[in-house]
Amino acid sequence: ARLEVELERLLAALPENKQMLVEKEFRGFKNLFSRFLAEQGPSVTWEKIERLPEGAVIDYSTLKTPTTDNIHHMLDKLVVVKLNGGLGTSMGCKGPKSVIQVRNELTFLDLTVQQIEHLNKTYKCNVPLVLMNSFNTDEDTQKVIRKYKGLKLEIHTFNQSCHPRINRESLLPIAMSPDVHSNIEAWYPPGHGDFYESFYNSGLLQKFIKEGRTYCFISNIDNLGATVDMNILDLLLNPEQKAQSEFVMEVTDKTRADVKGGTLIQYEEKLRLLEIAQVPKEHVDDFKSVSQFKFFNTNNLWAKLDAIQRVVERGSLNMEIIVNNKSLADGVNVIQLETAVGAAMKCFEGGIGVNVPRSRFLPVKKTSDLLLVMSNLYSLSHGSLVMSPQRMFPTTPLVKLGDNHFAKVKEFLNRFATIPDLIELDHLTVSGDVTFGRGVSLKGTVIVIANHGDRIDIPSGALLENKIVSGNLRI
Ligand code: UTP
Repeated sequence: ARLEVELERLLAALPENKQMLVEKEFRGFKNLFSRFLAEQGPSVTWEKIERLPEGAVIDYSTLKTPTTDNIHHMLDKLVVVKLNGGLGTSMGCKGPKSVIQVRNELTFLDLTVQQIEHLNKTYKCNVPLVLMNSFNTDEDTQKVIRKYKGLKLEIHTFNQSCHPRINRESLLPIAMSPDVHSNIEAWYPPGHGDFYESFYNSGLLQKFIKEGRTYCFISNIDNLGATVDMNILDLLLNPEQKAQSEFVMEVTDKTRADVKGGTLIQYEEKLRLLEIAQVPKEHVDDFKSVSQFKFFNTNNLWAKLDAIQRVVERGSLNMEIIVNNKSLADGVNVIQLETAVGAAMKCFEGGIGVNVPRSRFLPVKKTSDLLLVMSNLYSLSHGSLVMSPQRMFPTTPLVKLGDNHFAKVKEFLNRFATIPDLIELDHLTVSGDVTFGRGVSLKGTVIVIANHGDRIDIPSGALLENKIVSGNLRI
């Protein structure tokens, strides 16, 4: 009740024209918060998890490729959505993650725009690009998208909700005023699961339905492999296909490197996402096992627009709540309640998984990912990264760069005069104060470790093949 009073106070302090939208956002927040208070124990009963039924996950290689004549009509049914509410703080950058330059001075946003523009040109269609921004990313994103004005591409944006952070002891909002920018730490975007309601509240969902569009393709803006795939779109749209699914989750084979990723399970007769945070402690090892749970969620999702409308209007979205505990700069402990976009799968009818090639999952979370996408392992084709045919195996090398010297993009860039040749690299570990000269080539397994107080400069033109460089040992 006190929380309710506090929310009313914040709402009343807003100008009238803003009250309606914020009231909707607060309703979403109250709903999440009361579910959080009511919930006890884990959100899944481990014993109730069933084996994935036959046909629940379709192998990508079995999908049909539509004929070029059909593609134009298929794309008339599609909306592309990029989740763009997150910041680049984990890579030491200010502002939206999507404005980090990833290759040839092009940002995630530039590459996305190039991809969709190329798609529209090739198939003479008009697939709109929709960005879900947050109060953290909207202003900077708006500045950037002005430069795309001259292009033949419809770009729409909407903001996801803004929820108040809650003091962990008092369970009351820490915000004194409803003006987000007066204390930005008092607010947060409640995870990408907020997409459905915010898309609905923006009116864009209804607009696209009216235009005759039927599906949206949603993905993380930092996944450079998340291009529009015609075979999956055909699976959804072609009346000869039996699927007629309201929801598709693209999953990929889990390797030991991705044991923490969410997985797909059969539960209460439906497919759903299972995240590590939901797993009871005694089953975490089972969850991580690559043989028990073979796939993980790429967060490339396809959802039917009228089904989104239905689940929002009926209030039947009950995505699991992720409780994120944080300590603010002034030491205050807060909680923020979030949801994940893939967790809505169980709320739709006929959900299926498609097991896609790893190339559709190319996320950039760390500078080690940036090293790969900037290197000669890939070339750029109309905004899409294509793996070099010179690479013998289609797998990417395993790269670990030391957190103290390489975590921030700026530091990382300063340590490489040019990005080394990685075509034949399997493993790279770099730790400590290390720099790389121009035209370095790395092959096989390479480990470079500069001890505390030491510095290692790999000279220009060096070839390191199956080599360990450490301490005072110089090449
Ligand atoms: P993150 O980078 O935060 O997620 O966001 P992650 O570490 O991959 O883990 P998952 O996907 O949450 O399991 C992934 C994408 O979602 C957007 C980010 O901008 C990024 O593109 N995002 C995240 C939002 O749009 N809103 C949010 O509240 C959180």
